[in-house]
This record gives sequence, C-alpha cells and structure tokens, in this order.
Amino acid sequence: MTARTSDIDIDKAVGVLCAGGLVALPTETVYGLGANAEDPAALARVFQVKGRPPSHPLIVHIGGAEHLDNWAEDVPAAARLLAEHFWPGPLTLVLRRGRRVPLEATGGLQTVAVRVPDHPVALAVLAAFGGGIAAPSANRFGSLSPTTADHVRTELGDGVDFVLDGGPCQVGVESTIVDVTGDVPSILRPGGVTREDLEAVLGRPLAIPSTSRVRVPGQHPSHYAPRARVVLVEPEKVVAEAELAQDLGHQVGVFLPTSFADAPVRAHAVVPVPASMDAYARGLYGFLRELDQRGCDLIVASLPVEEGLGLALANRLRRAAGPRPSETRSR
Ligand code: TXA
Ligand code: MG
Repeated sequence: MTARTSDIDIDKAVGVLCAGGLVALPTETVYGLGANAEDPAALARVFQVKGRPPSHPLIVHIGGAEHLDNWAEDVPAAARLLAEHFWPGPLTLVLRRGRRVPLEATGGLQTVAVRVPDHPVALAVLAAFGGGIAAPSANRFGSLSPTTADHVRTELGDGVDFVLDGGPCQVGVESTIVDVTGDVPSILRPGGVTREDLEAVLGRPLAIPSTSRVRVPGQHPSHYAPRARVVLVEPEKVVAEAELAQDLGHQVGVFLPTSFADAPVRAHAVVPVPASMDAYARGLYGFLRELDQRGCDLIVASLPVEEGLGLALANRLRRAAGPRPSETRSR
C-alpha cells in the first residue's frame, strides 16, 4: 500500500467503519475524521469528537465519479465536467442531496457536499468499504486542520478509534468547494483547485460570494486559527511590526516574506515563507502549529498575492487572524 499503511490496516479501517466507529484517514488536502456516511449514530460521534455544532454539514467522500448519482440528484452538466477534470482531487461539489444521504450528514440541508480524494490510502479504504465516508477535517472545531497523522493524534487523542498514517498531506489546504446547485457555479471556499483552473474548464467566470455572510461553517472568521494571535501587515512592514511586538514583551513568530528572506529579525521564532505557492500551502498549517508549540503568543505575517493557490492561502490566513469566539458575539 504505502510505507506506513498495509492492506491489514485498510481491512481494520473498514471493520471500524462498519461497526460505527471513527477512522482518521489521510487525503491529499488534510486528514479527515471519517465515519460511515449512512450511519447517523456514527455521524453524531463525529460532531461530538470534533466539538462541532451538528448543524454544520460534512463532506461525503466517495470512491469515484461513477458513484456520484448514488449520492446526489439532478447532477448538472457543469458538475460532471468538473468531476471528470478534477477527481480524484481537492475539489468538493455541492449538489442536491440524494435520498441515501441522511440529514445528519448535511446539517439538515437538502444539498450535499461530495468529493473523491486523491490519496492512495483514502481510495483503498473507499474501494474496500464500498459506501461513502463522511469526513470533516480531523481537528477540534475552529482550530488548525491536521496535515500529518501526529497532528490528528494530538488534536483528537482517544476520540478516534483508528488513525491511518498516509504521511504528510501533499496539498496541505482543504478542498475548493464549488456550489453547482445554482445558475452560476460559485466558490464557497477557495482551496486546492485554483479558481483559474476551474474557470478554464468551465469556460466562464465563477462567482465568489462575499465572506461576510456566514453561510456555512468554515466560513466563520476565526476558523483555522492557531492559539497565538495572528496579525497581518504589508510584506515590507513584517520585520518592523515583529520587532516592535517582541520589544513590547511578546513571544513573536514571524512568517518572513520571501523578498526579505535574508533580513535579520529580532523575534522568538522565524518561518521563512517558501517561494513556491505549492510548498507554502503544503506547509501552512504545520508552520502555524510549530509556532504555537514554540510558545509564540503573536504571529506576524503578510498575505500572498491572491491568485492560484494564493487565494486559498490568503483566505486561511485572514481567518486565522479573524476575531476569536471570545471576541465576537456572532457565534
Ligand atoms: O479537503 C477537505 O475538504 C477536507 C478533507 C478531509 O476532505 N475536509 C474538510 O471538511 O475540510 P470540513 O468539514 O472541515 O469542511 C467542509 C465544509 C464545511 O465547513 C462547509 O462549509 C462545507 O464543507 N459544506 C459541506 N456541506 C455543504 C453543503 N451542503 N452546502 C454548503 N457547504 C457545505
Ligand atoms: Mg475543517
């Protein structure tokens, strides 16, 4: 299978799913906390272990685009086109809910989010299991998504029955969510498939609804947040802002922009931002976790240019910097 996962592990994962248990499984984006998508009791445990409100819908992972009509109804041509191009891959489609999908998986919505993950371990589990696996990211509600099996164990401990280790996730940010239930497909969450690539395949621009309306979870300002407070400034101000805060007594972590890679900076911990957007996305959550672990209470960063994967990175950084539950009355 892979260096870390054997056929025995796959069988064990399927056994756990069939018995109503929870399996953490690697995908190309982030690790998921998986349950049998058709087992309401198992789904209830997912919400409980994550500490997530049950009104927040989950993504149903399936083994291939050929299974789509088992889980969704009235699948439009645009959805089939996107599925054909990007599955397996970091794209989630929001469609009309098929009868097979319990409302517990969709947060009571008449739509369902579906994707085919591009990871050999996840695909092997899906093939052997045969059904759909509902899986949110395997982290506590509102915190950073896990991109290694160790992150999952740290986040969820005994809450998960079995952790499949598929190594570090290769994309590193969550899937792009596209709602194809309306007249114009719209991006609900930017992610691993870029807007440019989606538009090239569809041959038309995509709507990106304003993030100020909290429509669905994952859209809350404070999602994807480390413990440390995150402050975003212009790239050329990162060093000065970090040093000022450090002098004021903070333990400052710095995301040092590539153009300032050689700048000496007075701070508690420095992460040089990778020049490639792929590498930045792959590392983002790990970097934030590392700065938390090193005891930083403040992280100073800047936003990348918002094109390609930069759109998803900027989205996650803004949310990491957003108001926390204790600071807002909206949650
Ligand atoms: O890459 C990913 O998408 C990862 C891996 C594990 O597949 N999963 C993930 O799941 O990020 P989660 O639960 O953390 O985020 C899924 C998001 C929800 O927060 C919600 O915004 C959206 O999917 N969603 C799910 N069902 C929806 C629906 N019916 N309509 C609109 N949005 C929906
Ligand atoms: Mg999540």
